[in-house]
Amino acid sequence: MPSSQISGKAYHEATKHSYLSVQLDPNYVDASTQPSAFKVYPKFYRRVKLNLNNPVHSFISLTSTITLEKVYKDGPYKLRVNPSAGALYPTEVYVQIRGIEGMVDGIYHLEVENNCLTLIYELIDDGLENYIIPGKSINGFIFLISCVYYRSSWKYQNRSIRYCFLDSGHHLGAVAASASLYNRDIQLIFDFDKIALNSDLGFENKEFITACAVSGELENKKIRSLRLKVPFVSGTDYFESNQFIEDAYQATTLQKSRQHKLEYPQFDFDRDKFYQTIWNRRSIRRFRKEAISQEDYLYVVQQLQQSIPTENYEQLEIYSVVHRVEGMTPGLYKGTYLVKTGNFSEKTGYLCINQAIAKDSAVTLFFVSDYLNYQTAMQIAGFLGQRLYLTSNYMGIQCSGIGAYYDDETQELLETNKDVLYGMVIGR
Ligand SMILES: Cc1cc2nc3c(=O)[nH]c(=O)nc-3n(C[C@H](O)[C@H](O)[C@H](O)COP(=O)(O)O)c2cc1C
Repeated sequence: MPSSQISGKAYHEATKHSYLSVQLDPNYVDASTQPSAFKVYPKFYRRVKLNLNNPVHSFISLTSTITLEKVYKDGPYKLRVNPSAGALYPTEVYVQIRGIEGMVDGIYHLEVENNCLTLIYELIDDGLENYIIPGKSINGFIFLISCVYYRSSWKYQNRSIRYCFLDSGHHLGAVAASASLYNRDIQLIFDFDKIALNSDLGFENKEFITACAVSGELENKKIRSLRLKVPFVSGTDYFESNQFIEDAYQATTLQKSRQHKLEYPQFDFDRDKFYQTIWNRRSIRRFRKEAISQEDYLYVVQQLQQSIPTENYEQLEIYSVVHRVEGMTPGLYKGTYLVKTGNFSEKTGYLCINQAIAKDSAVTLFFVSDYLNYQTAMQIAGFLGQRLYLTSNYMGIQCSGIGAYYDDETQELLETNKDVLYGMVIGR
């Protein structure tokens, strides 16, 4: 077994929750010490305010924008198109734009708090292509997703490596959703020289690239690596390092993912309704324990089975614990195959650390995998998670990600040796 494969598994193993581990360390933090969740480059960089009436601006804005502001006793909460474990938002987005009318060719940071693009690097004969697809040039967009890991490790400590990767997958899903709304194909790329890019983008040890999404026309042309380094700008107002997270990132970056043929999904969403769904996507906090129809459920499952547009692919298996779907026998399903009959709602509620939403849902889902590359597999789990949020919300069904569950006991329920990467709930 290659050493980095052992590493990915070892980092997953080391971050497992059990009944005992959660009792011993319930992750309580003082909310007033939360590090900032917005990265802002210094004032002297040029900025482009994003105008939602401009389709290029809107395409970029909708990958990350704030969609709901709430005020709680400990301050304002700014919720976004992408969900995030604990609403801590470790992910950032950078976009290289080349050959798009009205935009300077350059690398921009998407400044979510102020809905603008900050031009952090102007292109000449150089660009991101040489790190990602050497020998090619892309007329269009290259999105990079990165993680400012301390935003999440502040609360979730070592387990936050999972949430960084899952959140990154969700963010890729948000990029894909916006692309599909604006009739642009995107391709996800997980295997590329992230280490060199982290260094040239000035991320030090505080932020790391997890994935890339490319949208545009490919041309055979040699593009140089960045001729200048981008200066370091912190994504948080203060920082505490976590060696485990940094090691887990390094180990899971070097391993190559499994490869498969690039195929694009085909959705038949009504454009206006899908646009509204992206804006209104939210995590459910409490279900009314109502059933959903079998037809709606099967529609949602079908969308999950559609292609993921990438050549770097880790296969996931989806287990569904059906509690309340009209016309379906309650029980554990692998895909649509009934593995065992039974009412497991109390069980899934317990497994998800006694969260009522995992008991009162119509279906509680778990994504498992025997991946080669853990970082890729977790991001594909998050990407599918975003698709599940959007398709179920589109059908008027509520949804939430579930990152907290007792790992080994969940594997026992599912009767699998494969790692459980992510849980999700849907229902009404
Ligand atoms: C990776 C991940 C794990 C999550 N885990 C849980 C969870 O265990 N329990 C829960 O109630 N919500 C969970 N959520 C939902 C977040 O709390 C929610 O996304 C966040 O508060 C922002 O709210 P919004 O999704 O409505 O925008 C998770 C979300 C993600 C992306």
